[in-house]
Amino acid sequence: MIDDIQDEMNQAEWRLKVFDSLSYPTLILKPDQTILAANRRFHEKNKTHGAQIIGRTCQEICSEQHHLSHFSCSGTVCPLQRLLVTKQPQSVVLKNIDEHGNEVWEERVFSPIATGEEEIKYIIVSIRDVTAVKHLEKKYSDVRELIDKVVQSSVSGIMAADRKGEIILMNKAAEDLFGYSARDANRVNIEDFYPSGVARQIMRKLRDENIGEKGKLPITQVNIITRDGVEIPVEMTAAIIYEDDGREAATAAIFNDLREKMAVQKKLEEAESQLFQSEKLASLGRLAAGVAHEINNPLTSILLYGNLMREKLAPDHPLLGILSYVLEDAERCKDIVKNLLAYSRQTRPAKEVFFLNNLVGESLRLIRDQKLFMNVNIVKNLDEYQILINADKNQLCQVLINLIINAFDAMEGSGTLTLTTYRDRKAGKAYIEIADTGGGIPSENLSKVFDPFFTTKEVGKGTGLGLSMAYGIMEENHGKISIKSTGPEGTTILLELPEEQVSNEFHFMSIG
Ligand SMILES: Nc1ncnc2c1ncn2[C@@H]1O[C@H](COP(=O)(O)OP(=O)(O)O)[C@@H](O)[C@H]1O
Ligand SMILES: [Mg+2]
Repeated sequence: MIDDIQDEMNQAEWRLKVFDSLSYPTLILKPDQTILAANRRFHEKNKTHGAQIIGRTCQEICSEQHHLSHFSCSGTVCPLQRLLVTKQPQSVVLKNIDEHGNEVWEERVFSPIATGEEEIKYIIVSIRDVTAVKHLEKKYSDVRELIDKVVQSSVSGIMAADRKGEIILMNKAAEDLFGYSARDANRVNIEDFYPSGVARQIMRKLRDENIGEKGKLPITQVNIITRDGVEIPVEMTAAIIYEDDGREAATAAIFNDLREKMAVQKKLEEAESQLFQSEKLASLGRLAAGVAHEINNPLTSILLYGNLMREKLAPDHPLLGILSYVLEDAERCKDIVKNLLAYSRQTRPAKEVFFLNNLVGESLRLIRDQKLFMNVNIVKNLDEYQILINADKNQLCQVLINLIINAFDAMEGSGTLTLTTYRDRKAGKAYIEIADTGGGIPSENLSKVFDPFFTTKEVGKGTGLGLSMAYGIMEENHGKISIKSTGPEGTTILLELPEEQVSNEFHFMSIG
């Protein structure tokens, strides 16, 4: 018996020791909020002693002792009441300001001291300082917020998808690029953002240890598909996001629209090739001019003496036939030299002011006799307004005739030739278009057709000087020649010239 009491005594003492050595401030309450006991840690922390608080309610303590304000649960539903209803442990986190003015956080866990169906007689309240945890949480949420802002404000599209390919993140730039809002993107699978098979290919590359770092896709150019079904070239990088245990959790990708960059690049390439073309034509021009000058003088003597000889020979002389061949070919050479000189801009244009439409009429009249004319339908689509230009009319006639003959050649005898004149008043430009329904210029020849001696025609038929001469003459007259369009449906050559500004005085003059 005595032993039993001794035992119980010991047990009670032991329990007290445990209670006092708990490292959290701890209280034992009765269901009516009366404080039955407080452990040593509690007193240390709150600078209280037993008599001050034992037997009183927590509410009383709070209202009297201001420095114990952190002891207050006011403003929340009393966890003790909740515990009595639910018979389950309850907790509450409270924020307060300590005596130094700093924010402190406390978590209070209320646990019933009872087992099973027993009525709750005592409640143990353990108080933990969670200030450090709260500070970390706050820091974490601040960082999260910052990351969110960085992601949202990025000019690159950023997107993340879970393992099933469902979109879990889409920033504003990605919304604009793909044409989805982050909200409806939830309903779309990542595979729908790419042409068929591409998403899988990207995943394969991401998982391939031989391509860059595993789980990372180096900058790659792909096409994406927008909501409207438009394919857009983009530059992308992607990464797999792994769980701590190495499982794949999600994939994230960053996209940059390449359309603008590609357009600029294309323009640059075009400008480069134009520069190359004009440099090439300029150096060929110098060469052609040199050759033409060298040949011109001997050729003039050949023609002069040849003609003299023909005059001297009797009409039935056996050599007369041969001589006329010589002279014919010498004339041909003279034509070539003339064209070369025109191309290399070695002939001085004799400028005059005339109506553009008249130029078309005269050029057509000059080739009227050509057999080629036969089955070609000629459409004249001339501007009603009488456009004036100031240029060398003969030279331009030569250009037009050459272009018309090229068109006839391309149509191989039948088709439609359309000659159009118009102007751009604001730009001060006059235009002539020569359109045929021939077979077009193959793309591989486009950069060569203005080269002197480039021809696809059989020997004796083409000299390859028509377009190069036209190029030279147009430049000389401050104009331009270009291939406006060409393809299996035909070719349109565009001539551009500065429009002569009409002065009032001019209206009274008659111009031919
Ligand atoms: N209207 C056209 N349609 C198709 N090809 C053309 C046309 N005009 C020019 N070409 C091509 O450009 C080449 C060069 O033309 P050009 O300088 O006039 O020389 P040529 O007519 O003596 O061949 C032609 O041989 C032909 O292949
Ligand atoms: Mg030609």
